[in-house]
Amino acid sequence: MNGRSIKVQSRRGAPGFAFNAPLPLTLYVHIPWCARKCPYCDFNSHEIHAAIDERAYIDALLADLDQDLPLADGRALQSIFIGGGTPSVFAPESIERLLCGVRARLACVTDLEITLEANPGTVEQGRFAEFRGAGINRLSIGVQSFDDDLLGRIGRIHGRREAIRAAESAHDAGLANFNLDLMYGLPNQSLDQARDDLQTAMDLEPAHLSHYQLTLEPNTWFHRHPPPLPDDDQVWDMQVICQRRMAEQGYIQYEVSAYAQDGRQCRHNLNYWQFGDYLGIGAGAHAKLTDISTQQARRLWKHKQPKAYLQAIAEHNAHRGDTALLLPEDASFEFMINALRLNGGFTDSLYRQRTGLTLESLMEILQSGQEQNLLERNGETWRASPHGQRFLNDLLGLFAPDSRHA
Ligand SMILES: C[S@@+](CC[C@H](N)C(=O)[O-])C[C@H]1O[C@@H](n2cnc3c(N)ncnc32)[C@H](O)[C@@H]1O
Ligand code: SF4
Repeated sequence: MNGRSIKVQSRRGAPGFAFNAPLPLTLYVHIPWCARKCPYCDFNSHEIHAAIDERAYIDALLADLDQDLPLADGRALQSIFIGGGTPSVFAPESIERLLCGVRARLACVTDLEITLEANPGTVEQGRFAEFRGAGINRLSIGVQSFDDDLLGRIGRIHGRREAIRAAESAHDAGLANFNLDLMYGLPNQSLDQARDDLQTAMDLEPAHLSHYQLTLEPNTWFHRHPPPLPDDDQVWDMQVICQRRMAEQGYIQYEVSAYAQDGRQCRHNLNYWQFGDYLGIGAGAHAKLTDISTQQARRLWKHKQPKAYLQAIAEHNAHRGDTALLLPEDASFEFMINALRLNGGFTDSLYRQRTGLTLESLMEILQSGQEQNLLERNGETWRASPHGQRFLNDLLGLFAPDSRHA
């Protein structure tokens, strides 16, 4: 998941942090290259024009991690997510060297979840088995659609056959714990096509499904040349019908776009949504880290352009000042932005543990959320109501620091 920075003002006299226990820690690794740039994508991904020096990049990742090691403060990693870009363009040997390097530097929990993102157009026969041999135990495969026509319209490098083969070879490789990314609301997509895509995906028995509405992001080809998209009502119908189908087939929604079979939620992404800590290495990677001894939380950003990143690492300076202390008000708002995406919401104690703050100062806002039917409370648990899920931005707007002091 690519986090986005949220710039908010702090207020004089806001309560300080009182963290009382270490936050869970995960590691995100960014591989910023793709075979071809998709016209809808604003991720930090760069089309490959010449052979990549994988060895040099893995060396840089490990040197980057070395710089950040003190921030882990002895904590064991709960998960590793190798995302992009398209990490599956890297050789399994490179991924193995990366994972050995990480394990040599950091303690890991015994059932460590290690995910690799893959594009079906980059995984020839036998590749997943090799990735499994390299230490990968979960895949996230970017399928988007199984319709050749639609895949062409969104500029994908693969067709239906490669997408199906990728899922089948994940099973063959013993990597049944895989996710399929699907998008809906595609150019000229009909409700039937969205339903068929989902059915094909579920027939392949992934442990997890990510079901994203296509959005036109600034700085993309589609933003400059908008394709004809289904209207809001059609897109809403697609969402509701697909949600119902997934529920019927045992894919339980646990986040706005995430559905999983029982016990197969993505632990790595759950840690973001539950506002845990994470290290981030690689071009453009973000990190959030909390230091209990100084009662400070901090965000870090690595250089975005691969060339600038490699240069900065060579100069032993991956961050170059791209680090900022998180203010209590920011932490509170950012917690809500993440946790209210979860169907299960959050508890008072999770809020206290992850933000170092108490909910007391938010009580008026929480009550207002309930009165507007945007929030539900059940004992210690707060979560978006069905109405709040549909109008999530209205709900989150209540917690924005600017509106709090209006
Ligand atoms: C890093 S990619 C996944 C792996 C690989 N790069 C690929 O595309 O096959 C992350 C996922 O984000 C989703 N995504 C990217 N841009 C999007 C957009 N504008 N709207 C909705 N979903 C988007 C896609 O489903 C994509 O698979
Ligand atoms: S969607 Fe995936 S393959 Fe396409 S440009 Fe973005 S990161 Fe690369």
